[in-house]
Amino acid sequence: MRAVVYDKYGPPDVLRLEEVAKPVPKEDEVLVRVHATTVTRADVHTREANRSNGRAMTLVSRLISGLRRPRQPILGREFAGEVEAVGAAVSEFAVGDRVFGLSGLTFGAHAEFMCMRESARIARMPAGMSFEDAAPICDGALNALMCLKQADLRKGRTILIYGASGAIGTAGVQLARYFGADITAVCSTKNLELVRSLGADAVIDYTQEDFTKNGQTYDVIFDAVGKLSFRRSRASLEPGGIYLPTDGPVNLMWALMPSRKGAKRVVFQIPPRQPKKDVLFLKELIEAGKFRPVIDRCYPLEDVIEATRYVETQQKTGNVVLTVA
Ligand SMILES: NC(=O)c1ccc[n+]([C@@H]2O[C@H](COP(=O)([O-])OP(=O)(O)OC[C@H]3O[C@@H](n4cnc5c(N)ncnc54)[C@H](OP(=O)(O)O)[C@@H]3O)[C@@H](O)[C@H]2O)c1
Repeated sequence: MRAVVYDKYGPPDVLRLEEVAKPVPKEDEVLVRVHATTVTRADVHTREANRSNGRAMTLVSRLISGLRRPRQPILGREFAGEVEAVGAAVSEFAVGDRVFGLSGLTFGAHAEFMCMRESARIARMPAGMSFEDAAPICDGALNALMCLKQADLRKGRTILIYGASGAIGTAGVQLARYFGADITAVCSTKNLELVRSLGADAVIDYTQEDFTKNGQTYDVIFDAVGKLSFRRSRASLEPGGIYLPTDGPVNLMWALMPSRKGAKRVVFQIPPRQPKKDVLFLKELIEAGKFRPVIDRCYPLEDVIEATRYVETQQKTGNVVLTVA
C-alpha cells in the first residue's frame, strides 16, 4: 500500500510517499481503507520531536515516540474510510461500513490502510457525510471537549475562547454553544464572521483589541491555541474562575499546584482522557445539526509536505484534510 513515512525527526521534507506492507488486522481489530485523513498540530509536533517547544519537551516527545528515531514511521491520527476486513472477534463493525475516528498516539492514518481495535475511538460515520468532511471530526473536538468538561458550562456561565478559529477553537465554540454558555470568541479579523456563525455571542478581534485590558471578566477562559497565559488572563477571570489551557509544561505545573477554595486556578485534564463514548457523542451532535468540523484546505496525500507546511504556519482555520485516492 502507499503511505507517507518518515524515519528521522526533522522538517516537513523528512516525509516521503512509499510502498509499504499492508497491515493485517488482529482478532479484535478492523482494517480500514482510508479515504481521508488530516494533518494536525500533533502530527507536526511528533515529526519534529517538539523541537519548537524547548529541550525538555523534545525529550518527553522522544521518550514517547522513539528516542533516536520514530518507532511508528507513519503519522496521521484522524481518518475516515471503509472497513475492508475484520478480525474474528469483531462484532461491532462489518466489511463495507463507513467509519471515522482517531488513532491517537499509535498514528498510522497517512496511509491507504490502517488497523484499529474495535473498542478504540472508531465509529460509523454520521449519515450523509463525505469522507473529507468526516476525517476532521475528532482531533480538535475531542481536545476541546476534554477541556470544556472541566468547566461546568451551562446557561448563565460565561466563557472566553482565545484562538477560536483553530481546530480546537472552532470545535470549542460549537461545544460551548451546545452546553448553553455565553461565549466571547477571540480571533483575527479574517475569522470574525466564521466564529460568529459557529455560535459566539460576542467576538473580539485580537489585532484591534486586547481583551485583558477591556475590564470584562469571565467564569472560564479557554486558551484553545496555546498563545495566552494564566498570568496574563488572571485579571479577566471572575473570582473562582478557571483557566483551561491546551498545552504547555508551565500550565501543567500551575494545574498541579494546590489552590485555596474559590481561588482562580488552572485546570488541566491529567492524564488526557478522550474515550470512545465522546466520539459517539460527536457523531450524535453532527446528526442533530449541532456540530460540524470546519475545513480550511484539502490536499491529495502526495502533497503532504505542502499541507504540513501550511499547518506549520499556525494560521489554518479549523482543519487541513488529506484525501487518499
Ligand atoms: N490539534 C492537536 O492535535 C493538538 C493536541 C494537543 C494540543 N494541541 C495544542 O493546542 C493548540 C491549538 O491546536 P490547534 O490544532 O487547534 O491549532 P491550529 O488549528 O493550528 O490554530 C490555528 C489558529 O490559531 C490562530 N492564531 C494564531 N496565532 C494566534 C494568536 N496569537 N492569537 C490568537 N489566535 C491565533 C489562527 O487564527 P487567526 O488567523 O485568527 O490568528 C488560526 O486560525 C496548539 O498549541 C497545539 O499545540 C493541539
